[in-house]
Amino acid sequence: MNTYEEDFKKSLTNPEEFWADAAQGITWYKKWDRVLDDDNSPFTKWFGGGEMNTCYNCLDRHVEAGRGEQDALIYDSPMTNMVEKYTYRQLTDIVARFAGGLDSLGIKKGDRVIIYMPMIPEAAIAMLACARIGAIHSVVFGGFAAKELATRIDDAKPKTIIAGSCGLEPGRIVEYKPLLDDAIDIAEHKPSSCVILQRPESIASMKEGRDVDWKELAVASKPIDCVPVAATDPLYVLYTSGTTGVPKGVVRDNGGHAVVLKWSMKHVYDIDPGDVFWAASDVGWVVGHSYIVYAPLLHGCTSILFEGKPVGTPDAGTFWRVIQDHKVKALFTAPTAFRAIKQQDPTGSLISDYDLSHFKTLFLAGERADPDTIIWAQDKLNVPVLDHWWQTETGWPMGANCAGYGIKPVKLGSSTLPVPGYDIQIIDEEDPSKIIPAGEIGVIAVKLPLPPGTLPTLWNNDEGFISSYMAEIPGYYKTGDAGYIDEDGYLFIMARTDDIINVAGHRLSTGGMEEVLAEHKDVAECAVIGAKDQLKGQIPMGFVVLNAGVSRADEEIVKEVVALVREKIGPVAAFRQAMVVKRLPKTRSGKILRGIMRKIADGEEYKAPATIEDPKILEEITEVLGQAGYPKS
Ligand code: COA
Ligand code: AMP
Repeated sequence: MNTYEEDFKKSLTNPEEFWADAAQGITWYKKWDRVLDDDNSPFTKWFGGGEMNTCYNCLDRHVEAGRGEQDALIYDSPMTNMVEKYTYRQLTDIVARFAGGLDSLGIKKGDRVIIYMPMIPEAAIAMLACARIGAIHSVVFGGFAAKELATRIDDAKPKTIIAGSCGLEPGRIVEYKPLLDDAIDIAEHKPSSCVILQRPESIASMKEGRDVDWKELAVASKPIDCVPVAATDPLYVLYTSGTTGVPKGVVRDNGGHAVVLKWSMKHVYDIDPGDVFWAASDVGWVVGHSYIVYAPLLHGCTSILFEGKPVGTPDAGTFWRVIQDHKVKALFTAPTAFRAIKQQDPTGSLISDYDLSHFKTLFLAGERADPDTIIWAQDKLNVPVLDHWWQTETGWPMGANCAGYGIKPVKLGSSTLPVPGYDIQIIDEEDPSKIIPAGEIGVIAVKLPLPPGTLPTLWNNDEGFISSYMAEIPGYYKTGDAGYIDEDGYLFIMARTDDIINVAGHRLSTGGMEEVLAEHKDVAECAVIGAKDQLKGQIPMGFVVLNAGVSRADEEIVKEVVALVREKIGPVAAFRQAMVVKRLPKTRSGKILRGIMRKIADGEEYKAPATIEDPKILEEITEVLGQAGYPKS
């Protein structure tokens, strides 16, 4: 194997050769005509002319190569006290049959299918079945409310929706079916069918003529073969938060995606075929797509699908139990999960109850890994703890300590070096033509072309693709993150440059929350910021100015707006705090000074801009925050 330095250089100077080599790891029905087609930049095409099938590469080919009796997927659920194992052969048969069921419902190549399911094997089965027939899946995270689901239905226009009857959260059953029914009522687009998996914890009522029972469909259907698709055909659309309440549909292609995910398993995670890999995330997020479902299966690994939480299901030792029971070699999770464990078991006393001898590396991503958490995990687990940085848009890491090449020295607070394929530069915020020298903070951008597997565009929204990512810094992809590169080339990701916040590793839009608050009849104006939180990294905090003449108690209105966000966006927004204020701080041109409000809440120093409308308002905000206990010590 080459060194990291050799590969990194080659990936930028000769990307065609570099990725053509990596593409050998995938089985193609027809070889590509061109590795890289950048004629219509930034709408880059990888492996144009090539034909393959992602499901074939995840399943059938491993059975054909003799891996049929190895576990492909292990469902471990402390929520239901169940462990179910699926070998590659079993999973291939189940997926082929369910794909036949989708075919019998009239789902064809290019049709969209929304998947609204909890962390159960059927979620992965549904995704792979779509891939098998060339249908484009769009998984919607279960913690989103009906309105969010409706927005996605109207954008993706699915022919069918596959849903579970319920999800299980500690202490409560989340009824998915009524949320689905409401979403379809709200949406303008109506799917022609819904496939419902009835979980024993809650049997949902079915709508005649529209709803089909998963089990009946699967039993009645004949297995179906993989359909060849173009490398550039979409595999899925995954909606992610943008700066407004309208989510962006990130498109993922088939060919480039399969090539890089397979490549990343060895080079980034140092995982070999046959190893057990666990991404403790959710299939509703990009980490779940890439590293619970597709990458481990493309590489012939065993993937763990875990339905539970790091704490409380039943205790802070649950992660160690899963690692022991399934001989997990690498765990990938968000720092917030470790903060939750550390909070409940500060000395890590539960770790010694388990045999972690197979466990080699911990990978963290989704939010900045704070040094305290890294040090705690290093101390208690005695394995390398590697932070790495990526986004829904890229689908795989941009910055990492690529373990497959040999682990580089860890610098706390840094996600280490750019991954081969990514030419990362720090750009001056004021002057996009200026690259910033080492050590200085600026806007993080990636020089085009982006490597394979990254978003080729947004669903039905080429213009949004350009305006959101490509227009501001000509020749570059704007990541939306700010940070710096040090003199050794290490990346430090410090903050978002937009309205996106990161709550317990979940990406949320404060703009979206503001839109909901503004809907309340008594609210004249509002702002939402992300305040520092010891457990979740950030939590949303709302400020509302009431309409003149409103005489109801502030507490009553606060309760209502909190409930409204939960109803319209979902519990995952974790929106629990709002404050009534007399005015919001603004510039003379009317721009709300959210950044300064956040600094006050976090107890950071700030400098009011010369253009501030009235500096006294900042004192008022400081006072209201002080009454609510901010900044926290
Ligand atoms: N379906 C329905 N509701 C969900 C849900 C789902 N899939 N996921 C979360 N929720 C609900 C929770 O029950 C909670 O509801 P509540 O307000 O009634 O308590 C709410 O959404 C907020 O959830 P969360 O922010 O996750 O808080 P939590 O207290 O349930 O758990 C952690 C805190 C840290 C344990 C948890 O967030 C965690 O494990 N995070 C890891 C994040 C992760 O995997 N990120 C993916 C990127 S790698
Ligand atoms: P998502 O699209 O949900 O994966 O969120 C992507 C965003 O999460 C990034 O743009 C960053 O702001 C943040 N993020 C992800 N990983 C890291 C990391 N390792 N360090 C700092 N921020 C991160």
